[in-house]
Amino acid sequence: QRAALAGRIDALMRTVPDYPEPGVLFRDIMPLLADAGAFAEVVGALAADAPGPIDLVAGMEARGFLLAAPVATALGAGVVPVRKAGKLPGPVASQTYALEYGTAAVEVQPFTIPDGARVLVVDDVLATGGTAAATVELLESCGATVVGLSFLVELEALGGRAQLPGRFVDALLTIA
Ligand code: PRP
Repeated sequence: QRAALAGRIDALMRTVPDYPEPGVLFRDIMPLLADAGAFAEVVGALAADAPGPIDLVAGMEARGFLLAAPVATALGAGVVPVRKAGKLPGPVASQTYALEYGTAAVEVQPFTIPDGARVLVVDDVLATGGTAAATVELLESCGATVVGLSFLVELEALGGRAQLPGRFVDALLTIA
């Protein structure tokens, strides 16, 4: 059943060379989201894999939002958008992280995260893990307990899992 779901995700994803920049192989999940049955199955699987009770689901801008919100309702949890810098009215908590060239930052509104809240992080793709690791650090600096991270797709060769040592990391499809 798991293998069938992975195969379905793989079949519905597009792989776009040289997007958004030359040399990048972009994984486009839009056809999967547009397929009602596959979308529902993916949301159900992400929710079913959650390690224990969840208070909040945190989703990363922008594609992570599309998965985090339905997973949150499936779990009876609230949702916290993890946004790129400058998109949320303050007060915000911010965490910078290194990119290949330069830095980026992720932000949340800390007053939406109760102390000790059990948070599941959800995103479409785990690549280098920079975004995910910064998100974990950010949420825990706000007093949350990150109980796990769930992804639609893990790009194993980019080593993202190594940025999340000791964490529960779930991926519905792993691409070597
Ligand atoms: C993509 C993806 C993850 C992140 C993974 O987002 O949705 O959030 O990159 O990369 P990493 O593991 O190397 O950090 P992107 O920055 O393309 O944002 P978008 O969803 O707004 O297009």
